[in-house]
Amino acid sequence: SPIAVKKICCIGAGYVGGPTMAMIAKQCPHIQVTVVDINQQRIDEWNSEELPIYEPGLHEIVSECRGKNLTFTTDVDETIRDADMVFISVNTPTKTFGVGAGRAANLEFVEKCARKIAEVSIGHKIVVEKSTLPVRTAEAVKTILSNSTTGASFDVLSNPEFLAEGTAVEDLISPDRVLIGGENETAINALVEVYANWVPRERLLTTNLWSSELSKLTANAFLAQRVSSINAISALCEATGADVDEVSTAIGTDSRIGPKFLKASVGFGGSCFQKDILNLVYLCEYFGLPEVAQYWEQVVTMNDHQKQRFVNRMVRTMFNTVSDKRIAIWGFAFKKDTNDIRESAAIYVCRDLLMEKAKLAIYDPQVKPEQMRAALESVMQDENGELNAMKRELLDNNVQYCDNGAAAADDAHAIAVLTEWDEFKDCDFEAIRDSMKQPAFVFDGRNLLKHADLCDKGFTYFGIGF
Ligand code: NAD
Ligand code: UGA
Repeated sequence: SPIAVKKICCIGAGYVGGPTMAMIAKQCPHIQVTVVDINQQRIDEWNSEELPIYEPGLHEIVSECRGKNLTFTTDVDETIRDADMVFISVNTPTKTFGVGAGRAANLEFVEKCARKIAEVSIGHKIVVEKSTLPVRTAEAVKTILSNSTTGASFDVLSNPEFLAEGTAVEDLISPDRVLIGGENETAINALVEVYANWVPRERLLTTNLWSSELSKLTANAFLAQRVSSINAISALCEATGADVDEVSTAIGTDSRIGPKFLKASVGFGGSCFQKDILNLVYLCEYFGLPEVAQYWEQVVTMNDHQKQRFVNRMVRTMFNTVSDKRIAIWGFAFKKDTNDIRESAAIYVCRDLLMEKAKLAIYDPQVKPEQMRAALESVMQDENGELNAMKRELLDNNVQYCDNGAAAADDAHAIAVLTEWDEFKDCDFEAIRDSMKQPAFVFDGRNLLKHADLCDKGFTYFGIGF
């Protein structure tokens, strides 16, 4: 008979742990869900009215379940000991040091979790890999757990998360699929029964451990590859008079290609695409497959090129100099409806514009100025983590943080749209044009605004890929 899970512990209260556990708590009132983290501030925020992450609909779910069957705490040991099932949902960033630096995943935090579970557990536990991990990590997790000296026993499952930020709640309510990899039927079924509380059974896919681990990296690699593919074509469109949005529509109607994820942009960002592809590249090299590694690496190379191309086009168009020119930056998040700026294209575009000595006036509806400042500082540091005097001066004197798009555009030579926030579409563009230097340039890195309308209103408008 299947194990009925009654208590879940999730290690890691981040963008994945927080929302996924809130959804399990909402859909499974009979399960006690506790999210633990070593970061006290994060836990305090989850327990406050201002959650650490912004996701439409998340606040409502957390408010509904918190204090009932959803708890956030730093009491890691006790919560693990008490649980039947433990999710590992900690960060797996790209390694910045040693072997595989700049490519391999840093598994330090995952290993620490496995060791902690081995140390404090009693009885039987199902350990679930929720973090995105290189294929064969479960092997290491199993080895560490098997060295537990408490007499506890373990099953290890892989259950990667496919939610996208900004739509986390929607994605969790009705996922395209839930993937569960494992070796032991009873353990697999225990997790299947948790999800079956709200996900139709035909969407619960079970596989072996390695397929599950590898499917997550592969899914992200394919998604990012589509963006890089259409972005590559956007460059050719700009050179030839084709329009990339028309090309997207034309190819997307082929049901074998499909319409989604074909939006040309200033480049993909986010904490995962680049990290996961580089991890895949590293794995291919590790397993002696250099041609396969090079194939996937091009997806990241193309993305870097797209960000550079955007800045180059701005500089060239604005008479080959942006020095001392005020440029409004609309949006800093890596996509709309999130406050996440990790690997956002905006960071690199702003850095390159600052190095051209432009004066930036940045506005994002969800990102705090101190977040933006920290990201820019970190991307401008040298390899010793230091900022030279020139760069510090640029950061101090050439960056202003504004309260809205119009304020940022006031007296500016150009607007650069870097995030597709809906509110940018509804601006009073006549007033904005009048407040700007002429010609009033718009560089729309998201093809968000209405091209013809802005041209009618007297802007000199450039999008991506036309
Ligand atoms: P995150 O950085 O937002 O959160 C991770 C949390 O784990 C942090 O709060 C950190 O303090 C905590 N942590 C680290 N080590 C710990 C330990 N030993 N004990 C307790 N807590 C610890 O990361 P995230 O964005 O939630 O990503 C988590 C994993 O999920 C990554 O592997 C990522 O690739 C994957 N993923 C992320 C997304 C996404 O949209 N962000 C989507 C799918 C998968
Ligand atoms: C992505 C995947 O979509 C999720 O399935 C996965 O779980 C997640 O990574 C992860 O593993 O972290 P996320 O990065 O949150 O989710 O957001 P996406 O919607 O995938 O967007 C990623 C980037 O690509 C954004 O910068 C977005 O603007 C860009 N993008 C996306 C485009 O430029 N064009 C598109 O057509 C789609």
